[in-house]
Amino acid sequence: MKLAALIGSVRKDSFNRKIADFIGERYQSDFTLEKLGIQELPYFDQDQETDPPESVRTFKQKVKDADAILIVTPEYNHSVPGILKNAIDWVSRIDLVMAGKPVLMIGASPGFLGTVRCQLHLKQILAAPGVSALVLPGNEVFIGEVHKKMDDTGKITDEGTVEFLDGVMKNFKTFIESK
Ligand code: FNR
Repeated sequence: MKLAALIGSVRKDSFNRKIADFIGERYQSDFTLEKLGIQELPYFDQDQETDPPESVRTFKQKVKDADAILIVTPEYNHSVPGILKNAIDWVSRIDLVMAGKPVLMIGASPGFLGTVRCQLHLKQILAAPGVSALVLPGNEVFIGEVHKKMDDTGKITDEGTVEFLDGVMKNFKTFIESK
């Protein structure tokens, strides 16, 4: 199955990007994961939505071709990072490539709450008419105190977190197959 990953951080040592890489490697027998370069997208511009720049066309095509979307994102100021919202705004117009797409949201932060507030907002955004994505129900992945759960290479060293992720990824696969 093809997973397109949207990462809400461009930071070189991003915990969230490392988690996406960890997932890509650990579950490679079930999924191929491609991280989409949402940092290359221009700011959404309604004047360009019917004839968007090449980077936007490519991005939308990759979302369309994916069997499902994995979003791995930090929380910025109790909400969704602008870079991620911008990418979602592009896919929410004209050809609606996210509509009906299975989505799994994952978030990590050094704080205790592990992006809870971001994901509450993100869930609302993904339910907007132009987006209409299908968020995996009953599985919420908030990885708090992430700096204590990962080594320098990006390997998740906390066994409980890995076990939990194993279960969620299995559920996500079943969910995608049911669509
Ligand atoms: C943060 N951070 C943060 N953390 C959190 O739990 N809730 C929040 O609202 C915020 N707000 C916030 C705003 C901005 C602008 C920055 C730069 C950071 C801290 C954040 O969780 C931390 O920097 C993570 O390490 C960012 O994720 P990556 O880049 O490691 O994936």
